[in-house]
Amino acid sequence: MINDRPTGGFGAHEVLPGKAKLSRKATESTQVTNNVSFTLARGETLGIVGETGAGKSTVGRLVLRMIDPDAGSVHFNGNDVLAMDKKTLRSLRQRAQMIFQDPFSSLDPHMTVREAVGEPLTIHQGLKGEERDTKVIALLQRVGIREDQLNKYPREFSGGQLQRLAIARALTTDPEFIVCDEPVAALDVSIQAQVLNLLLDLQRERGLAYIFISHDLSLVRFLAHRVAVMYKGEIVEMNDTEEIFDNPQHPYTQKLVAAIPDPRNREPDCARSPNVEPDSQATPLRYSSSSIREFFCLLTR
Ligand SMILES: Nc1ncnc2c1ncn2[C@@H]1O[C@H](COP(=O)(O)OP(=O)(O)OP(=O)(O)O)[C@@H](O)[C@H]1O
Ligand SMILES: [Mg+2]
Repeated sequence: MINDRPTGGFGAHEVLPGKAKLSRKATESTQVTNNVSFTLARGETLGIVGETGAGKSTVGRLVLRMIDPDAGSVHFNGNDVLAMDKKTLRSLRQRAQMIFQDPFSSLDPHMTVREAVGEPLTIHQGLKGEERDTKVIALLQRVGIREDQLNKYPREFSGGQLQRLAIARALTTDPEFIVCDEPVAALDVSIQAQVLNLLLDLQRERGLAYIFISHDLSLVRFLAHRVAVMYKGEIVEMNDTEEIFDNPQHPYTQKLVAAIPDPRNREPDCARSPNVEPDSQATPLRYSSSSIREFFCLLTR
């Protein structure tokens, strides 16, 4: 793990997606989550792992009320998310944001960078014109995208750059926590490191809390302070990262951990340079030089 443990529970969020029934058809609804609850400290990363269909993304979406369950309850810091009026919901969405696996589909293909990153600034802060542009440019610089890209469309960017843009858009509301749903799963391994570095830097700078959803247990082990293991809509085990991996208690967690490939059994030569996607505007890799590169080296062997 490369990020320091956050300090105590200051500013902790209590998140209780609880039970939720969802339906695709009007006639049937399925219980998708059950008694899911966790707290999230300022600056903390909670990893959520579990097999496909376990309910990981549903938890993230419920918390931000991106989906409305047919039945159940969702609480955030003691407030019933499902009962929130428009104004309260808007303020929740300022405090909490989401980043998805596929940045291309999370950005409107018809909007330029200026519009995509500027839109939430107009909606939430009423910014327009030059004032809005100044803020957009500052955010772009922060995520490693040059100012002269302002009038470009999503199709003109690489996957890594698009994820940087999605992060810039998420930062517009100055959120306290971000649900990162498989944020690097679609990226080339070397680009994954750059995007993760950016997320880690932002966490340190802003005290951001992350819910980091991933199938990649090695990645979660590396990034998360605590891990929740989901199985069939429930959190079957939640503990400090070290405990989850070194001393798993639940049989499902034991199975997951046992299935992680042991890097010591892999080829020792990691000199092979990975296919680096052109991402010339990458921010300097503050964490990458040793730990992250070594980590990805292990992963790609
Ligand atoms: N709107 C919905 N209506 C009914 N069922 C749903 C709905 N959305 C998701 N589900 C079901 O809820 C379960 C959990 O889905 P979810 O997408 O949260 O899983 P996940 O853990 O994120 O999986 P993956 O690792 O594949 O992304 C699945 O069985 C899914 O089919
Ligand atoms: Mg998912």
